[in-house]
Amino acid sequence: MVDFSDFDRRGYRTVDVRTGYGQWVGSYERTVEDAMDIAVLDRLAVPRWSAVRRAADLGCGTGRTGGWLRGHGAASVDGVDLTPEMLAAARARGAHDRLVEADLADTGLPGGAYDLVVSSLVDEHLADLGPLYREAHRLARPGGLFVLVGLHPYFIMAAGMPTHFDGADGEPIAITTHVHLVSEHLTAGLAAGWRLAEMREAVVDDAWIALKPKWEKYRSHPVSAAYVWARPEE
Ligand SMILES: C[S@@+](CC[C@H](N)C(=O)[O-])C[C@H]1O[C@@H](n2cnc3c(N)ncnc32)[C@H](O)[C@@H]1O
Repeated sequence: MVDFSDFDRRGYRTVDVRTGYGQWVGSYERTVEDAMDIAVLDRLAVPRWSAVRRAADLGCGTGRTGGWLRGHGAASVDGVDLTPEMLAAARARGAHDRLVEADLADTGLPGGAYDLVVSSLVDEHLADLGPLYREAHRLARPGGLFVLVGLHPYFIMAAGMPTHFDGADGEPIAITTHVHLVSEHLTAGLAAGWRLAEMREAVVDDAWIALKPKWEKYRSHPVSAAYVWARPEE
């Protein structure tokens, strides 16, 4: 386990998840880059998105991931999020069948019911990965998948940068950020009963530098990671 405070080079004022996303919601979609998560989902080989009848989207936010899943043929997506303002934006988008305000550790969604559980850009906000991997495992049907995509721990450490947004007066505000090493993901996933089916790491490449020229100093550094977990058939 490593502590983000050992790497923090920004020292921004930090707020909790609900406070932070409640304030970020209006500009969230203009600031989050598809290169971080959507581009990595696009490169995964194992999931057959168009065969997904029912998906659960944990930390669904404004519905970016749900919208992407529907666009790739998923028939239905249920979303869960802690932040009411993010859920309201997801409701307006209309990609989800059901939206639930809850902690992803205890969603209240039906067990064994989902072909796919997905969680995108959420894990850095969790102090402990175990509850996420366990709840995803409870939700997935035997043979179902759990796809987790998020910031690469290496990038959080190298950049020393928490997840943050600009507040109304322009002040940069951090949202509680945790660093989870790859081994923490593997340990939590295996302990919950998952089998690792695929893993991808994305690096800062020309496309990223076109988006963020200041990231030239991070060229070829890992920036995001995706894990595809399979729930063994019983
Ligand atoms: C960076 S946003 C990602 C939203 C969406 N998945 C996307 O990719 O755009 C992180 C979201 O996770 C939610 N979140 C963070 N911790 C959570 C928790 N413990 N339970 C439920 N939602 C959580 C936040 O409220 C926020 O909407």
